[in-house]
Amino acid sequence: MTSIEPMVSLEKNDRRKISLDSIQQPIDAELAHFKGYFRGAMRSHVFLMDQVIQYLLRQKGKQMRPILVLLSAKAAGGIVESTYRGAALVELLHTATLVHDDVVDDADRRRGMFSINALWKNKIAVLLGDFLLSRGLLLALDNKDYQLLHIVSDAVKRMSEGELLQIEKARKLDIDEATYFQIISDKTASLLSACTSCGASSATSDQATILLFREFGQAMGMAFQIRDDLFDFGVKDIGKPLGIDLQEKKMTLPLIHALGKASKAEKKRIIAIVRKKGKSKTDIRDVGMFVESNGGIAYATEKMMEFASEAHQILNRLPENDARNSLADLVTFTVTRSK
Ligand code: IPE
Ligand code: IPE
Ligand code: MG
Ligand code: MG
Repeated sequence: MTSIEPMVSLEKNDRRKISLDSIQQPIDAELAHFKGYFRGAMRSHVFLMDQVIQYLLRQKGKQMRPILVLLSAKAAGGIVESTYRGAALVELLHTATLVHDDVVDDADRRRGMFSINALWKNKIAVLLGDFLLSRGLLLALDNKDYQLLHIVSDAVKRMSEGELLQIEKARKLDIDEATYFQIISDKTASLLSACTSCGASSATSDQATILLFREFGQAMGMAFQIRDDLFDFGVKDIGKPLGIDLQEKKMTLPLIHALGKASKAEKKRIIAIVRKKGKSKTDIRDVGMFVESNGGIAYATEKMMEFASEAHQILNRLPENDARNSLADLVTFTVTRSK
């Protein structure tokens, strides 16, 4: 398999490696406050549930979604109390969907540690996901944050639809590029655009501004998932399983594109491997080499950069301030990140 790193080339002034630490700077204090808030929102009085939650809190995610909420609010006018609830709500829902996603994908690693289903089995993982989801919804409901609830519930609905469409396509193996974009828009961009729009709507009531933020999150979310799908063809440890998309018969953009370029016989050979249950390391490597040599990695990288550039362009229509500049850096981070 190949490393995808050299394929990511950025515009001149965007070539520096950006860390999340520097991106967070304009909201350092607010993010610290959020973390306490989040812990509190996770708590359960049921012993087994709390044990699993303590483990979950030790799995460190990037917290990109709360960062997005806080930065969007700051860039749109200012962080207020309901912004924190928005940030906690999206991270709770994100965590819930990851716990469920690892059941659906049969994945045994997450964030560099064992997944919940690997340690406690599927039953507990399903219930924990439901618990986190309802904690998030109650947090918003208790505070009558109806707009927030509306934005985020719509995203959760789309996430389930996206994951289901993905299963349908993995069964039939008839996915095309348009369907791939539909899937990633629903399963991933939906939540990132919910982050930016609920951050913005906590700070301003100007509908045109909120819409811009939503479109910004949507474009960034598309780039984000393409990056994630590229990771699957790489060899670098990202804290979760590699080659698992193929193992689960998930055909993502690099493979879809490569199949479109290949001869009929070659296509048949690759599809036969994808269809196989329990693929060997050699199978996975074969498909990886096929994808690379048919330009699949380069093509997906190009598409990812197009979405990133669209996100940057939307940001340029907003007034400049330190939070907006950090959002621009977050887009660059999304496409250059190493996990
Ligand atoms: C993983 O999201 C799920 C996808 C949408 C690809 P992240 O990469 O943001 O996961 P954590 O929260 O940092 O672990
Ligand atoms: C994204 O899909 C997960 C959700 C939107 C719930 P993946 O299955 O590709 O995410 P990872 O790679 O497991 O994090
Ligand atoms: Mg997964
Ligand atoms: Mg993935």
